[in-house]
Amino acid sequence: MGGPLGALLAAWLLLAAGSGGAKDNILLVLTDDQDREMGGMTPMKKTTSLIGQLGATFANAFAVTPLCCPSRSSILTGRYPHNHLVRNNSLEGNCSSPAWQKFQEPFTFPVYLQRQGYQTFYAGKYLNQYGDPKAGGIQYMPPGWSYWLGLVGNSKYYNYTLSANGHEEKHGEHYEEDYLTDIITNRSLQFLEKLSHPPFLMVLAPPAAHSPWTAAPHYKSAYSSIKAPRNGSFNVHGKDKHWLIRQAKTPMSNTSIEFLDNVYRERWQTLLSVDDMVEKIFEKLKTLHLLDSTYVFYTSDHGYHTGQFSLPIDKRQLYEFDIRVPLLVRGPGVKPNQTHLQPVLNIDLGPTFLDIAGIDASQTSMDGQSFLPLLVNETHKSKWRSDFLVEYTGEGHTHQDPHCPALGPGVSQCFPDCVCEDAFNNTYACVRTLSPINLQYCEFADAQNFVEVYNLTSDPHQLFNVVKTVDPSQLEQMNQRLIKLQACSGVTCRS
Ligand SMILES: *[C@@H]1O[C@H](CO)[C@@H](O)[C@H](O)[C@H]1NC(C)=O
Ligand SMILES: *[C@@H]1O[C@H](CO)[C@@H](O)[C@H](O)[C@H]1NC(C)=O
Ligand SMILES: *[C@@H]1O[C@H](CO)[C@@H](O)[C@H](O)[C@H]1NC(C)=O
Ligand SMILES: *[C@@H]1O[C@H](CO)[C@@H](O)[C@H](O)[C@H]1NC(C)=O
Ligand SMILES: *[C@@H]1O[C@H](CO)[C@@H](O)[C@H](O)[C@H]1NC(C)=O
Ligand SMILES: *[C@@H]1O[C@H](CO)[C@@H](O)[C@H](O)[C@H]1NC(C)=O
Ligand SMILES: *[C@@H]1O[C@H](CO)[C@@H](O)[C@H](O)[C@H]1NC(C)=O
Ligand SMILES: *[C@@H]1O[C@H](CO)[C@@H](O)[C@H](O)[C@H]1NC(C)=O
Ligand SMILES: *[C@@H]1O[C@H](CO)[C@@H](O)[C@H](O)[C@H]1NC(C)=O
Ligand SMILES: *[C@@H]1O[C@H](CO)[C@@H](O)[C@H](O)[C@H]1NC(C)=O
Repeated sequence: MGGPLGALLAAWLLLAAGSGGAKDNILLVLTDDQDREMGGMTPMKKTTSLIGQLGATFANAFAVTPLCCPSRSSILTGRYPHNHLVRNNSLEGNCSSPAWQKFQEPFTFPVYLQRQGYQTFYAGKYLNQYGDPKAGGIQYMPPGWSYWLGLVGNSKYYNYTLSANGHEEKHGEHYEEDYLTDIITNRSLQFLEKLSHPPFLMVLAPPAAHSPWTAAPHYKSAYSSIKAPRNGSFNVHGKDKHWLIRQAKTPMSNTSIEFLDNVYRERWQTLLSVDDMVEKIFEKLKTLHLLDSTYVFYTSDHGYHTGQFSLPIDKRQLYEFDIRVPLLVRGPGVKPNQTHLQPVLNIDLGPTFLDIAGIDASQTSMDGQSFLPLLVNETHKSKWRSDFLVEYTGEGHTHQDPHCPALGPGVSQCFPDCVCEDAFNNTYACVRTLSPINLQYCEFADAQNFVEVYNLTSDPHQLFNVVKTVDPSQLEQMNQRLIKLQACSGVTCRS
């Protein structure tokens, strides 16, 4: 049934369901590899004013793991990696694997929301191995989505395949027809136009600012004089850090610096199309009178670095630049221009969405907690955490890299200049405490059981590992807290 009568009936059915009347809509814009610490939000002028200035900015938002697939799996499940068991970006590490599909995906936030009457829409990059023939191919649609437009594989801007509700949709390299960020924008506008009745959940996951950093034609000359920032730990040798950081070459070669400056600029260029996406969707929500009943979240899967501790480009490290993410929220009851300092995690997004939909996330297996009370200033209703866990399993190759004959096996991401950004033994777990002390304590699962400790109050750029000078009883305390968090599940992660 269509038309006004149909809409009326649908609205009546929704009320008659007795679940508390009309629910608010949810829109999540999830970017790829967008940092907060290195100026990653600078290109997002419209986004910052539409969401941040008309809503809330979380100044201490973190990913619990700094790699795409594990982090996205944490967002979807609201769980730490030790509970969802997605360890890296490959099928063997459970990225979109059959085991993930069987044991974790049925408990992702869209499943709960769809059951609660939400029309759900996903467009863009999902999990890095999505669409692999060994994981069901493009016919496979993850549960919980009424409309599915999933990118096969990792981020791309042109020459990619989408699964459109399980059907193959191939794209070439013509800007007007194929640019992925714009495809996501256009399809989401169509979804909103055709929406028969709210509430809806939309997740838009553009490829920006991930490699291969292909900007839209009209943005290719933007920021022509921009270079990566030289402040903080740029081109600084991490002399007292674990072996992977010590192998980086300081000073970096001029070709490496030129390379990372280009990447820095191209990342910003790709983000300009995301800024346009946000503006267009806001205009559409306004036209359709949906803006006042929609919560909009803007965040990234993890951070990024360009030259910090002489690591040319990547993520995967425990430092602030890789684990901090932007997080902006606006919506019903959220006052404009608010800045929140409580530590909010990517595993809190799912519980927050459930909370908006009237579902009690503490009854699920999610490890995170809803930050809706912070947004609508009912802080007294929730005790907030003061610390959390960051955990990461390093990726390596079992064979030597032919381009870097001096390096043994076990490492990966050794480009440019044969500086490796990851290794099997770059496997670590950290407690990050924000109050009453601002501290990070990390243990490596490597041959040295290496420990790094940072006092972020005196040393915001993490230049000095204070493991040898900090009070031993403090180390003991942090070690005990780490052991507890590494074994936590559900409620024990929240307390
Ligand atoms: C370095 O400078 C950039 C750009 O001006 C700024 O956004 C960033 O916060 C600074 N970072 C550090 C580590 O001081
Ligand atoms: C938010 O803050 C900005 C910058 O201080 C200001 O220009 C703007 O008017 C404020 N917006 C609202 C809605 O209060
Ligand atoms: C992948 O997930 C399955 C089931 O969730 C688990 O049994 C397996 O150990 C996981 N693999 C890794 C490498 O953690
Ligand atoms: C897309 O694929 C075509 C044909 O293989 C190739 O010539 C072109 O360079 C590719 N373009 C991009 C942007 O990857
Ligand atoms: C998106 O829609 C606009 C406006 O209709 C159109 O000009 C553009 O070519 C479309 N882009 C893609 C990639 O489909
Ligand atoms: C590298 O760049 C610096 C600063 O621009 C310059 O002084 C130096 O000569 C360059 N080195 C080489 C080997 O080109
Ligand atoms: C929350 O409410 C308290 C007391 O009413 C007020 O002092 C505080 O500024 C508000 N905080 C936010 C983030 O709105
Ligand atoms: C990913 O994790 C699996 C399971 O632990 C491991 O076998 C595989 O080597 C890892 N992949 C990489 C690239 O490190
Ligand atoms: C870590 O692994 C690399 C590569 O396999 C090896 O060269 C290095 O000695 C190891 N370091 C530690 C501390 O385990
Ligand atoms: C961290 O540094 C601050 C400022 O120098 C100092 O007051 C505090 O005691 C330090 N904390 C620890 C745990 O060392």
